[in-house]
Amino acid sequence: MEPFKRDFLTDFDLTDTELSERWDDVVATLHAGCPVARSEVGEGYWVVHNYRDVIQCTKDWRTFSSADGFMVNRPPGMPYFPPAEVDPPLQRALRAVLEPFLKPRAAAAFEPQVRAHANTLIDAFIERGEVELVSEFANPLPQYVFSTAVAGMDREELPYLLNAFSFVGPESERAQNFLNGMTRIERYMRQRQGEASRGDIVDALLAFEHEGFSWEDKVGTLCQLTIGGIGTTGYAFSGGLYHLATHPADRQRLVNDPSLIPQALDEFLRLYLGVVNMARRVKQEVEVGGVKMREGDRVLLSYGAACRDPTLFEEPNKVDIDRRATAHLAFGAGVHRCIGESLARVVLRFGYEEFLKRIPEFGVAADFSPEYETGSTRHMVRLPLHFTAAPPHARQPGGVR
Ligand code: HEM
Repeated sequence: MEPFKRDFLTDFDLTDTELSERWDDVVATLHAGCPVARSEVGEGYWVVHNYRDVIQCTKDWRTFSSADGFMVNRPPGMPYFPPAEVDPPLQRALRAVLEPFLKPRAAAAFEPQVRAHANTLIDAFIERGEVELVSEFANPLPQYVFSTAVAGMDREELPYLLNAFSFVGPESERAQNFLNGMTRIERYMRQRQGEASRGDIVDALLAFEHEGFSWEDKVGTLCQLTIGGIGTTGYAFSGGLYHLATHPADRQRLVNDPSLIPQALDEFLRLYLGVVNMARRVKQEVEVGGVKMREGDRVLLSYGAACRDPTLFEEPNKVDIDRRATAHLAFGAGVHRCIGESLARVVLRFGYEEFLKRIPEFGVAADFSPEYETGSTRHMVRLPLHFTAAPPHARQPGGVR
């Protein structure tokens, strides 16, 4: 392996371009090199990357608090997003009012909307024989499903919110983008306050009261939910479809037998997880992987590296759609485990089904090599695909259009 310019074991940096460009190598180096890595950048932090150590931290929220936010060296002015950035008991109380709208049975009911919207997006590019998948399918599909089907927003809001919350572009501009998105979400919440109740997740959030939970926190919560699926679910599309574009045998298997999609999805989620690094603050002295951490220390939990822990996953960098990879940490673990997991699975499963049904043959240009942005989240910047569409009769997904 070519040496890195930076020593990621003792001088880890979330903003280093080598992390984006050589993620597989960095992760392998962490696993081979030390139990816990260190960064002296900014406030300084530990990087916990072994699967068992990450589990230890996520299960112990009293010692590893989320209340200082999920980003290390947070840009000034960046708003806070509950429930991810608060601790129990407030976090548990807030989840209890949101969960009924996102639990498996509620999420399953969105299948028709997912299929229908996937087809609307595909209709817009099918005649072209090519698509920029990230902006035309991977990000808009999950965003549409949460924003309109779950939260009842107008379609007209979608392009603005997608842009504000997309995690694309320089970190320095992100705080302002997020604030812009937040202003728009607040406007929607004020509008809903003045309307009759629809009995949906927004009304439940508007009615939720708890000590220490302000109006800004309510707005932050709806932002967090809106952001939840954009880059995260989007990367599981772009990563998985890039794999299928470059591995025709795997693609043909999923086209021939869509019942294989849910298992393949877990493998795609293990490798193409959108949420790769989440921060915690140490509240009392503790030992992780043999390293002593003190009260006040900052810790980065690398879900992305834990998903490639070689003690758990054989040949961890290999995409193997036959692997039963259900133990991955793409959705985190412990009290903050993703509240949108069931919805994400519904969007991914039926989004893949519709895509593969209508576009069974696709590829990338011979000179294409994906670019990534990596920090707290990781995603593919763009994925231009060329394809051959299936004949029109192939598009009858159980009558849903
Ligand atoms: C494939 C798609 C997704 C991935 C990979 C993902 C990943 C994650 C992860 C790793 C966490 C834990 C954060 C931590 O430990 O601090 C999390 C939390 C969260 N996710 Fe997701 N997520 C996805 C989709 C969604 C969707 C669709 C929504 C919205 C409906 C959503 C909303 C949230 C919220 C609100 C939290 C905070 C939960 C809490 O702290 O109690 N996510 N997500």
